Amino acid sequence: VSIKENKAEQQAINAVPDIKKLDPRSSEWGKYFPRQYDSYIQTRKSDEIKDILKDDPNLVVLWAGYGFSKDYNAPRGHFYALEDNINTLRTGAPVDEKTGPMPTACWTCKSPDVPRLIDEIGEHDYFTGAWARFGGEIVNSIGCADCHNNETMQLNVTRDYLKRALDAEGSLKFSDATHQDLRSLVCAQCHVEYYFKPTKWTDENGQEQTAKVVTLPWNNGFAAEDMEEYYDERDFSDWTHKLSKTPMLKAQHPGYETFITGAHGQNGLACADCHMPYVREGGVKYSNHKVGSPLDDIANTCLNCHQGTEKEFKAKIDRKLERKNELAREATDILAKAHLEAARAWELGATEEDMKAALQDIRHGQWRWDYAVAAHGAFFHAPEEILRVLGGAINKAHDARLKLRVILAELGDTNYEAPAYASKEEAQELVGLPMDELVEEKKEFINGLKQEWFEMGKEKGIYDPKLREGMKLKTSFN
Ligand code: HEM
Ligand code: HEM
Ligand code: HEM
Ligand code: HEM
Ligand code: HEM
Ligand code: CA
Repeated sequence: VSIKENKAEQQAINAVPDIKKLDPRSSEWGKYFPRQYDSYIQTRKSDEIKDILKDDPNLVVLWAGYGFSKDYNAPRGHFYALEDNINTLRTGAPVDEKTGPMPTACWTCKSPDVPRLIDEIGEHDYFTGAWARFGGEIVNSIGCADCHNNETMQLNVTRDYLKRALDAEGSLKFSDATHQDLRSLVCAQCHVEYYFKPTKWTDENGQEQTAKVVTLPWNNGFAAEDMEEYYDERDFSDWTHKLSKTPMLKAQHPGYETFITGAHGQNGLACADCHMPYVREGGVKYSNHKVGSPLDDIANTCLNCHQGTEKEFKAKIDRKLERKNELAREATDILAKAHLEAARAWELGATEEDMKAALQDIRHGQWRWDYAVAAHGAFFHAPEEILRVLGGAINKAHDARLKLRVILAELGDTNYEAPAYASKEEAQELVGLPMDELVEEKKEFINGLKQEWFEMGKEKGIYDPKLREGMKLKTSFN
């Protein structure tokens, strides 16, 4: 960088930022904060799709009858959050603003257009209707306005459901949160378990509407058992399992809840300490906004506090991952068998009364497994808690199978063996998913309505093309 350029940059930095409230266009913020912006945009470098269903086809059986059995990948950079939400087979192939399987709530953790829209139309209206309703409004991936106040640049929680959930849980009221707490809470807006709570409200025309409001089930606490109890008390289920007919729960990435139980959470670290380490450039120090794997920069993260070599730390983390994977794979093997054996019992004429206790074990076992693995960093953030919960999952799943064995024996099938499947494709066929059709429809949507949405965003002046520069279509199915 020449001295002249440096001066120009310095002037921009010293200028009083003139950023619109909740401006979803990160490059507008970037004019005043080039280092944070440049590092933020680097999240594009984490662009690989890792197909988790391919790695463990049991998951297709575990989620039969639910969107996750169609498509589920490991997370990649924040640059791709909006893109992946639009492209996943889970959001289906809407043809207009009213069609498609998902509610508007699916946009909630993908874009700074969400707090902008909530500010404009209110939470209830935002959470009402089909996902496709806001295709032309939500056009920028996660950005500055998700986490910062435009006037002060202070960290800002823009999702009120997090504030409500913290207050309901009670151990850290939102109004007591310190700056260090906020360095985790901005992440906890999204890296948390949630469900969609049906909520009645009356619109301007006096019409009764039902919003599906993102809600964090924290009233009884953060542990797997606390949330399980919360859902049981409310008789809540996300879907009914297609094979076993179990009223199921889906755990989505309880990252914050598990993190706080681990050595780092207990010692007061925040997510940003490892995922956004300070970097020095000449005389300037700033937070690296390339949120990604801390292992890319062990020297500026772990080795700030620990002694050792990069190699040692990598090996330690690998070993933790192996331990988790061993138990997780065991859990999915047993749970998948339990679903298939339950299906067989129904087939042979088992009654609801016969099945009730076994299905409750399946529900609880699968919930616990999912809670332990759905936040992909938890094996490191909270290794003891994760292994404990996986132990519980395996126990519950075995309990279910014991009960099912007795039922099957009473119905005359003592030697039933669940069908085998060797790949994601075979498992998808087994659970009756018409994958070719789903992919075909999705491709039509991707080439059609999806493109129109960004045009609409352009016309409204809310779309930031920098946030899609160089974007290539990457999915598990193309
Ligand atoms: C992905 C951490 C804030 C939503 C990720 C990844 C990490 C991470 C490490 C995986 C990146 C990769 O594999 O390259 C954090 C931290 C945060 C934070 C430490 C706070 C400083 C947020 C916020 C949201 C969010 C505020 C929602 C507005 C997501 C989503 C993905 C993701 C949706 C997956 C993107 C995809 O695969 O398409 N996050 N995050 N995160 N994060 Fe965050
Ligand atoms: C990741 C879709 C709702 C937070 C993802 C990904 C997709 C996606 C496609 C990338 C990885 C994958 O293939 O699974 C959806 C859909 C939603 C939804 C269709 C509506 C049912 C939400 C909500 C939140 C959220 C409400 C925040 C409370 C996240 C986070 C990740 C993620 C934190 C990264 C998770 C990880 O570490 O693996 N989502 N999302 N999502 N989403 Fe969502
Ligand atoms: C810190 C700008 C996006 C979370 C900062 C600072 C600035 C800034 C000026 C203070 C100086 C520093 O520590 O570097 C921006 C800009 C963004 C952006 C221009 C968009 C391009 C985000 C996003 C998140 C986030 C999306 C959350 C996922 C943080 C955190 C800190 C920080 C946790 C450290 C705060 C502290 O400890 O004081 N950012 N930011 N930022 N930002 Fe951002
Ligand atoms: C504990 C690894 C970053 C402070 C631990 C433990 C491991 C570890 C393996 C033992 C507990 C467990 O197994 O969960 C790492 C890695 C890091 C990292 C791989 C980088 C990604 C940091 C940073 C700090 C820190 C940046 C300080 C700001 C601590 C503290 C403990 C701990 C205070 C608890 C020590 C004790 O209970 O004796 N870390 N750490 N770590 N770490 Fe880290
Ligand atoms: C992995 C988020 C706190 C160190 C991850 C991942 C996410 C995440 C989403 C998975 C990334 C992926 O699989 O692509 C968060 C959030 C935190 C937090 C939301 C706060 C609640 C921390 C802290 C440390 C840390 C404080 C360091 C002490 C790591 C490491 C990995 C990881 C070492 C594994 C990276 C790898 O396998 O490459 N985190 N994290 N995280 N996180 Fe965190
Ligand atoms: Ca859930």
